[in-house]
Amino acid sequence: MRLILLGAPGVGKGTQAQRLATEEGIPQISTGEILRDAIKRGTPLGIQAKSFMEAGNLVPDDVVIGIIRDRLSRSDGADGFILDGFPRTVAQAQALDRMLLDSGAGGIDYVVNFEAPNQEIISRLSGRRTCPDCQAVYHVEHAPPRQEGRCDKCGAALVQRTDDKPDTIAARLKVYDQQTSPLVDYYRERGLLRQLDATAPIDSVYRNLRSLVQGTKSR
Ligand code: AP5
Repeated sequence: MRLILLGAPGVGKGTQAQRLATEEGIPQISTGEILRDAIKRGTPLGIQAKSFMEAGNLVPDDVVIGIIRDRLSRSDGADGFILDGFPRTVAQAQALDRMLLDSGAGGIDYVVNFEAPNQEIISRLSGRRTCPDCQAVYHVEHAPPRQEGRCDKCGAALVQRTDDKPDTIAARLKVYDQQTSPLVDYYRERGLLRQLDATAPIDSVYRNLRSLVQGTKSR
């Protein structure tokens, strides 16, 4: 199964990708997580990415394309992967097409486009809490941890992402409309697009996602 999860920030891609990747035994490849980890560790990549992410802008294409090229060259993606947050521009999508062609590993099975109104997205991002150690995702109302402020999986103190502040959320939504939404047509024209109503509760969205991707060519 080789999937791309597409959709606005906060629509629920990461929540569903984590669950599907665990059940399928394939990696969830999130460029956002890779970049946040680099910032945490103070690597040259993290230093380069930090100001873009804090402003809600995209990190330059050549940087994220390099990240994905390295990540896809690892053996754990041989049986499939879920791309979460990549590609985000047409240039990234074209680079991915070339990478997969050159590797001879076969193309993407489906691109699932998560859809929800902006009002719902803003409420999801405002209430999101994440685990800085294991990257588990919670929501203060919709997906609260068992113990307030603590990760169910590893016990670490949960944090609010620095880009989940109102001004940065507005900037990220604008960037999505201008730079990422053209990918909907890009993948529709290639016959890969599947639409997913992401407004339902988490378990219903997951059931619908599973039925959409059932019978992928590479399974
Ligand atoms: P990234 O980490 O990819 O952020 P994003 O795309 O903005 O997506 P999010 O992680 O914010 O949201 P999500 O859709 O995964 O939602 P989640 O499941 O968490 O990128 C961050 C930054 O890195 C970018 O701004 C950019 O600077 C840079 N970057 C990353 N990739 C890049 C690239 N390819 N090119 C250039 N720059 C790049 O859910 C959100 C909340 O809602 C959670 O609290 C969750 O519990 C809750 N929730 C989820 N589903 C439901 C539901 N069905 N009902 C109710 N609540 C729900």
